[in-house]
Amino acid sequence: MKVLGFETSCDETSCAVVEVGRKVISNVVFSQIIDHQKYGGVFPELASRRHVEKIVDVYKNALTQANLTLKEIDVVAVTVQPGLVGSLLVGVNFAKGLALYAKKPLVAVDHLKGHVASNYITHSGLKPPFLCLVVSGGHTQIINVVDYVQHEVMGRTMDDAAGEVLDKVGRVLGLQYPAGVAIDALAKTGNRKRYKLPRPQVKSSDLDFSFSGLKTAALNVIQCEQLKVGINIPDMAASFQGAVVDVLLEKLSIAMREKNAARFCLAGGVCANSELRTKAAAWADCCGFESFFPAFEFCGDNAAMVAAQGYYEFNAGNIACWDLNPLL
Ligand code: KG4
Ligand code: ZN
Repeated sequence: MKVLGFETSCDETSCAVVEVGRKVISNVVFSQIIDHQKYGGVFPELASRRHVEKIVDVYKNALTQANLTLKEIDVVAVTVQPGLVGSLLVGVNFAKGLALYAKKPLVAVDHLKGHVASNYITHSGLKPPFLCLVVSGGHTQIINVVDYVQHEVMGRTMDDAAGEVLDKVGRVLGLQYPAGVAIDALAKTGNRKRYKLPRPQVKSSDLDFSFSGLKTAALNVIQCEQLKVGINIPDMAASFQGAVVDVLLEKLSIAMREKNAARFCLAGGVCANSELRTKAAAWADCCGFESFFPAFEFCGDNAAMVAAQGYYEFNAGNIACWDLNPLL
Protein backbone atom coordinates (compact mmCIF):
# COMPACT_ATOMS: atom_id res chain seq x y z
CA MET A 1 0.00 0.00 0.00
CA LYS A 2 1.33 3.40 -1.04
CA VAL A 3 0.49 6.51 0.96
CA LEU A 4 0.98 10.03 -0.41
CA GLY A 5 1.72 12.35 2.53
CA PHE A 6 1.65 16.14 2.90
CA GLU A 7 3.28 18.28 5.59
CA THR A 8 2.72 22.06 5.77
CA SER A 9 2.35 22.71 9.52
CA CYS A 10 5.14 25.30 9.76
CA ASP A 11 7.85 26.41 7.33
CA GLU A 12 8.51 23.25 5.30
CA THR A 13 6.35 22.37 2.30
CA SER A 14 6.74 18.63 1.87
CA CYS A 15 5.21 15.73 -0.02
CA ALA A 16 6.28 12.07 0.09
CA VAL A 17 5.32 8.58 -0.96
CA VAL A 18 5.82 5.80 1.59
CA GLU A 19 5.02 2.12 1.12
CA VAL A 20 3.44 0.08 3.97
CA GLY A 21 4.44 2.72 6.51
CA ARG A 22 8.14 1.84 6.25
CA LYS A 23 9.73 2.27 2.83
CA VAL A 24 10.29 5.84 1.68
CA ILE A 25 9.91 5.97 -2.11
CA SER A 26 10.21 9.75 -2.36
CA ASN A 27 10.38 12.64 0.10
CA VAL A 28 10.51 16.17 -1.29
CA VAL A 29 11.04 18.98 1.23
CA PHE A 30 11.01 22.66 0.31
CA SER A 31 12.38 24.66 3.26
CA GLN A 32 11.33 28.29 3.67
CA ILE A 33 14.08 29.05 6.19
CA ILE A 34 15.74 31.70 4.01
CA ASP A 35 12.43 33.59 3.75
CA HIS A 36 12.01 33.74 7.52
CA GLN A 37 15.62 34.43 8.53
CA LYS A 38 15.29 38.17 8.16
CA TYR A 39 12.45 38.15 10.71
CA GLY A 40 14.43 36.03 13.21
CA GLY A 41 11.64 33.42 13.29
CA VAL A 42 8.68 32.11 11.30
CA PHE A 43 6.43 34.86 9.88
CA PRO A 44 3.09 33.00 9.76
CA GLU A 45 1.39 34.77 6.86
CA LEU A 46 4.48 34.51 4.70
CA ALA A 47 4.69 30.78 5.55
CA SER A 48 1.10 30.21 4.31
CA ARG A 49 1.75 32.10 1.11
CA ARG A 50 4.94 30.14 0.36
CA HIS A 51 3.03 26.86 0.88
CA VAL A 52 0.41 28.05 -1.64
CA GLU A 53 3.17 28.84 -4.16
CA LYS A 54 5.20 25.67 -3.69
CA ILE A 55 2.77 22.86 -2.97
CA VAL A 56 1.98 21.97 -6.58
CA ASP A 57 5.66 21.68 -7.57
CA VAL A 58 6.53 19.76 -4.44
CA TYR A 59 3.63 17.33 -5.06
CA LYS A 60 4.58 16.82 -8.72
CA ASN A 61 8.23 16.22 -7.82
CA ALA A 62 7.28 13.68 -5.16
CA LEU A 63 5.29 11.64 -7.70
CA THR A 64 7.96 12.01 -10.41
CA GLN A 65 10.75 10.92 -8.07
CA ALA A 66 8.64 7.94 -7.01
CA ASN A 67 7.99 7.15 -10.66
CA LEU A 68 4.27 6.88 -9.87
CA THR A 69 1.01 8.44 -10.99
CA LEU A 70 -1.76 9.58 -8.66
CA LYS A 71 -3.79 6.57 -9.79
CA GLU A 72 -1.21 4.25 -8.23
CA ILE A 73 -1.54 5.92 -4.81
CA ASP A 74 -3.84 4.18 -2.32
CA VAL A 75 -4.30 6.77 0.44
CA VAL A 76 -3.73 10.52 0.83
CA ALA A 77 -2.49 11.61 4.29
CA VAL A 78 -2.04 15.14 5.58
CA THR A 79 -0.91 16.87 8.78
CA VAL A 80 -4.00 18.37 10.38
CA GLN A 81 -2.61 19.68 13.72
CA PRO A 82 -0.84 21.15 15.61
CA GLY A 83 0.83 24.00 13.73
CA LEU A 84 0.22 27.39 12.16
CA VAL A 85 -3.42 27.33 11.09
CA GLY A 86 -2.87 29.26 7.86
CA SER A 87 -0.10 26.84 6.89
CA LEU A 88 -2.07 23.73 7.85
CA LEU A 89 -5.06 24.93 5.79
CA VAL A 90 -2.96 24.91 2.62
CA GLY A 91 -1.93 21.27 3.03
CA VAL A 92 -5.34 20.10 4.23
CA ASN A 93 -7.20 21.75 1.38
CA PHE A 94 -4.74 20.56 -1.25
CA ALA A 95 -4.81 16.97 0.03
CA LYS A 96 -8.59 17.07 0.30
CA GLY A 97 -9.00 18.28 -3.29
CA LEU A 98 -6.59 15.64 -4.55
CA ALA A 99 -8.24 12.79 -2.63
CA LEU A 100 -11.71 13.90 -3.75
CA TYR A 101 -10.65 14.14 -7.39
CA ALA A 102 -8.76 10.82 -7.42
CA LYS A 103 -11.38 9.03 -5.25
CA LYS A 104 -8.83 8.04 -2.61
CA PRO A 105 -9.38 7.86 1.15
CA LEU A 106 -8.16 10.90 3.08
CA VAL A 107 -6.36 10.42 6.41
CA ALA A 108 -5.60 13.14 8.97
CA VAL A 109 -2.27 12.89 10.81
CA ASP A 110 -1.26 14.55 14.06
CA HIS A 111 2.11 16.24 13.50
CA LEU A 112 3.63 14.82 16.69
CA LYS A 113 2.51 11.29 15.84
CA GLY A 114 4.23 11.93 12.51
CA HIS A 115 7.47 12.78 14.32
CA VAL A 116 7.20 9.51 16.29
CA ALA A 117 6.71 7.67 12.96
CA SER A 118 10.02 9.08 11.66
CA ASN A 119 11.48 6.19 13.68
CA TYR A 120 9.45 3.57 11.74
CA ILE A 121 10.93 4.71 8.42
CA THR A 122 14.42 4.61 9.93
CA HIS A 123 14.18 1.32 11.87
CA SER A 124 12.21 -1.23 9.86
CA GLY A 125 11.75 -3.63 12.78
CA LEU A 126 10.64 -1.08 15.39
CA LYS A 127 7.14 -1.63 16.78
CA PRO A 128 5.28 -0.05 19.72
CA PRO A 129 5.16 -0.06 22.70
CA PHE A 130 7.96 2.34 23.60
CA LEU A 131 8.39 5.81 25.08
CA CYS A 132 9.23 8.70 22.78
CA LEU A 133 10.78 12.06 23.64
CA VAL A 134 9.58 14.48 20.94
CA VAL A 135 11.66 17.67 20.89
CA SER A 136 11.00 20.23 18.19
CA GLY A 137 10.76 23.98 17.66
CA GLY A 138 7.15 23.99 18.80
CA HIS A 139 6.83 21.01 21.15
CA THR A 140 8.52 19.09 23.93
CA GLN A 141 6.65 15.97 25.03
CA ILE A 142 7.27 12.56 26.52
CA ILE A 143 4.82 10.19 24.89
CA ASN A 144 3.86 6.67 25.86
CA VAL A 145 3.44 5.08 22.41
CA VAL A 146 1.02 2.32 23.39
CA ASP A 147 0.42 1.28 19.79
CA TYR A 148 0.69 2.91 16.38
CA VAL A 149 -2.32 5.18 16.90
CA GLN A 150 -2.81 5.28 20.66
CA HIS A 151 -0.38 7.76 22.19
CA GLU A 152 -0.53 8.98 25.81
CA VAL A 153 1.20 12.25 26.62
CA MET A 154 3.03 11.74 29.94
CA GLY A 155 4.64 15.17 30.14
CA ARG A 156 4.87 18.34 28.10
CA THR A 157 6.37 21.79 28.31
CA MET A 158 4.34 24.24 30.35
CA ASP A 159 5.80 27.18 28.39
CA ASP A 160 8.51 27.30 25.69
CA ALA A 161 9.64 24.28 23.69
CA ALA A 162 13.27 23.13 23.75
CA GLY A 163 13.90 24.15 20.11
CA GLU A 164 12.25 27.49 20.68
CA VAL A 165 14.62 28.42 23.54
CA LEU A 166 17.67 27.25 21.59
CA ASP A 167 16.52 29.50 18.72
CA LYS A 168 15.78 32.47 21.00
CA VAL A 169 19.02 32.33 23.00
CA GLY A 170 20.87 31.80 19.70
CA ARG A 171 19.28 34.93 18.29
CA VAL A 172 20.60 37.01 21.21
CA LEU A 173 24.04 35.49 20.57
CA GLY A 174 23.77 36.80 16.99
CA LEU A 175 23.12 33.41 15.35
CA GLN A 176 20.78 33.03 12.41
CA TYR A 177 17.32 31.42 12.72
CA PRO A 178 16.94 28.54 13.41
CA ALA A 179 19.90 28.67 15.78
CA GLY A 180 19.74 25.08 17.08
CA VAL A 181 22.20 23.77 14.48
CA ALA A 182 24.68 26.61 15.08
CA ILE A 183 24.48 26.15 18.87
CA ASP A 184 25.16 22.45 18.36
CA ALA A 185 28.27 23.23 16.28
CA LEU A 186 29.59 25.99 18.59
CA ALA A 187 29.00 23.91 21.72
CA LYS A 188 31.53 21.35 20.47
CA THR A 189 34.37 23.80 21.17
CA GLY A 190 32.83 25.47 24.22
CA ASN A 191 33.17 24.90 27.96
CA ARG A 192 29.78 23.75 29.28
CA LYS A 193 30.80 24.58 32.87
CA ARG A 194 31.70 28.21 32.15
CA TYR A 195 28.25 29.68 32.78
CA LYS A 196 26.10 28.31 35.59
CA LEU A 197 22.50 27.80 34.47
CA PRO A 198 19.54 26.21 36.27
CA ARG A 199 18.00 22.82 35.43
CA PRO A 200 14.32 23.78 35.82
CA GLN A 201 11.81 21.17 36.97
CA VAL A 202 14.36 18.36 37.39
CA LYS A 203 13.61 18.07 41.08
CA SER A 204 9.86 17.77 40.61
CA SER A 205 8.60 14.24 40.15
CA ASP A 206 6.10 15.13 37.41
CA LEU A 207 7.10 14.87 33.78
CA ASP A 208 6.39 18.42 32.65
CA PHE A 209 9.11 20.69 31.34
CA SER A 210 9.63 24.43 31.75
CA PHE A 211 12.24 26.09 29.56
CA SER A 212 11.19 29.70 29.78
CA GLY A 213 13.03 30.32 33.10
CA LEU A 214 16.17 28.72 31.71
CA LYS A 215 15.94 31.01 28.68
CA THR A 216 15.58 34.09 30.93
CA ALA A 217 18.51 32.93 33.10
CA ALA A 218 20.69 32.60 30.00
CA LEU A 219 19.61 35.99 28.66
CA ASN A 220 20.45 37.59 32.04
CA VAL A 221 23.91 36.00 32.08
CA ILE A 222 24.50 37.17 28.49
CA GLN A 223 23.46 40.72 29.42
CA CYS A 224 25.65 40.84 32.57
CA GLU A 225 28.68 39.36 30.82
CA GLN A 226 28.33 41.82 27.94
CA LEU A 227 28.67 44.66 30.45
CA LYS A 228 31.83 43.07 31.85
CA VAL A 229 34.21 41.05 29.69
CA GLY A 230 31.82 40.17 26.86
CA ILE A 231 30.16 36.82 26.35
CA ASN A 232 32.11 33.82 25.13
CA ILE A 233 29.71 32.46 22.51
CA PRO A 234 30.95 28.83 22.29
CA ASP A 235 31.00 28.61 26.12
CA MET A 236 27.44 29.97 26.37
CA ALA A 237 26.30 27.63 23.57
CA ALA A 238 27.82 24.67 25.43
CA SER A 239 26.48 25.75 28.85
CA PHE A 240 22.96 26.41 27.56
CA GLN A 241 22.72 23.31 25.36
CA GLY A 242 24.10 21.27 28.28
CA ALA A 243 21.32 22.53 30.57
CA VAL A 244 18.61 21.76 27.96
CA VAL A 245 19.97 18.25 27.33
CA ASP A 246 20.32 17.50 31.06
CA VAL A 247 16.66 18.43 31.68
CA LEU A 248 15.40 16.42 28.68
CA LEU A 249 17.25 13.26 29.69
CA GLU A 250 16.47 13.57 33.40
CA LYS A 251 12.72 13.75 32.64
CA LEU A 252 12.97 10.88 30.18
CA SER A 253 14.68 8.77 32.83
CA ILE A 254 11.85 9.48 35.31
CA ALA A 255 9.32 8.44 32.63
CA MET A 256 11.24 5.23 31.87
CA ARG A 257 11.24 4.33 35.56
CA GLU A 258 7.58 5.18 35.95
CA LYS A 259 6.54 2.87 33.09
CA ASN A 260 9.20 0.29 33.81
CA ALA A 261 10.06 0.68 30.12
CA ALA A 262 13.04 -0.80 28.33
CA ARG A 263 12.91 1.06 24.99
CA PHE A 264 12.77 4.68 23.97
CA CYS A 265 12.90 6.77 20.80
CA LEU A 266 13.83 10.37 20.17
CA ALA A 267 12.03 12.45 17.54
CA GLY A 268 11.72 16.04 16.25
CA GLY A 269 14.13 18.64 14.89
CA VAL A 270 16.10 18.97 18.15
CA CYS A 271 16.89 15.24 18.18
CA ALA A 272 19.42 16.01 15.43
CA ASN A 273 21.46 17.53 18.26
CA SER A 274 24.77 15.73 18.67
CA GLU A 275 25.01 16.10 22.46
CA LEU A 276 21.45 14.85 22.97
CA ARG A 277 22.05 11.82 20.73
CA THR A 278 25.43 10.95 22.22
CA LYS A 279 24.25 11.28 25.82
CA ALA A 280 20.98 9.44 25.19
CA ALA A 281 22.86 6.57 23.54
CA ALA A 282 25.44 6.38 26.35
CA TRP A 283 22.72 6.49 29.01
CA ALA A 284 20.75 3.76 27.19
CA ASP A 285 23.88 1.56 27.06
CA CYS A 286 24.55 2.11 30.73
CA CYS A 287 20.95 1.23 31.74
CA GLY A 288 20.52 -1.61 29.25
CA PHE A 289 17.77 0.23 27.34
CA GLU A 290 17.19 -0.06 23.61
CA SER A 291 17.32 3.37 21.98
CA PHE A 292 16.18 4.51 18.54
CA PHE A 293 16.85 7.82 16.79
CA PRO A 294 15.49 8.91 13.39
CA ALA A 295 17.91 9.33 10.49
CA PHE A 296 18.98 13.00 10.29
CA GLU A 297 16.89 13.63 7.16
CA PHE A 298 13.72 12.63 9.07
CA CYS A 299 14.35 14.63 12.29
CA GLY A 300 13.02 17.95 10.97
CA ASP A 301 9.59 18.38 9.42
CA ASN A 302 9.00 16.14 6.41
CA ALA A 303 6.09 14.40 4.70
CA ALA A 304 7.60 10.89 4.80
CA MET A 305 6.85 10.68 8.52
CA VAL A 306 3.29 11.88 7.83
CA ALA A 307 2.76 9.27 5.12
CA ALA A 308 4.17 6.58 7.45
CA GLN A 309 1.79 7.51 10.26
CA GLY A 310 -1.01 7.86 7.67
CA TYR A 311 -0.59 4.18 6.82
CA TYR A 312 -1.15 3.16 10.45
CA GLU A 313 -4.11 5.53 10.85
CA PHE A 314 -5.69 4.05 7.71
CA ASN A 315 -5.13 0.50 9.01
CA ALA A 316 -6.85 1.49 12.26
CA GLY A 317 -9.87 2.69 10.23
CA ASN A 318 -9.25 6.38 10.89
CA ILE A 319 -10.55 7.90 7.67
CA ALA A 320 -11.16 11.66 7.62
CA CYS A 321 -14.45 13.27 6.60
CA TRP A 322 -14.63 15.84 3.81
CA ASP A 323 -15.17 18.64 6.31
CA LEU A 324 -11.70 18.02 7.80
CA ASN A 325 -10.43 21.26 9.25
CA PRO A 326 -7.28 22.10 11.28
CA LEU A 327 -8.16 22.63 14.94
CA LEU A 328 -7.35 25.97 16.56
O1 KG4 B 1 10.72 19.41 14.16
P1 KG4 B 1 11.15 20.72 13.57
O2 KG4 B 1 11.78 20.72 12.21
O3 KG4 B 1 9.97 21.74 13.51
C1 KG4 B 1 8.93 21.81 14.44
O4 KG4 B 1 8.02 20.96 14.40
O5 KG4 B 1 9.05 22.73 15.30
O6 KG4 B 1 12.17 21.36 14.64
C2 KG4 B 1 12.83 22.58 14.40
C3 KG4 B 1 13.73 22.88 15.58
C4 KG4 B 1 14.32 24.28 15.57
O7 KG4 B 1 14.10 24.87 16.82
C5 KG4 B 1 15.81 24.03 15.33
O8 KG4 B 1 16.66 25.00 15.91
C6 KG4 B 1 15.99 22.70 15.98
O9 KG4 B 1 14.83 21.96 15.59
N1 KG4 B 1 17.21 21.98 15.54
C7 KG4 B 1 18.24 21.69 16.36
C8 KG4 B 1 19.22 21.02 15.58
N2 KG4 B 1 18.74 20.93 14.30
C9 KG4 B 1 17.50 21.53 14.30
N3 KG4 B 1 18.42 21.92 17.68
C10 KG4 B 1 19.57 21.50 18.22
N4 KG4 B 1 20.55 20.88 17.54
C11 KG4 B 1 20.42 20.61 16.23
N5 KG4 B 1 21.39 19.97 15.56
ZN1 ZN C 1 7.79 19.26 13.64
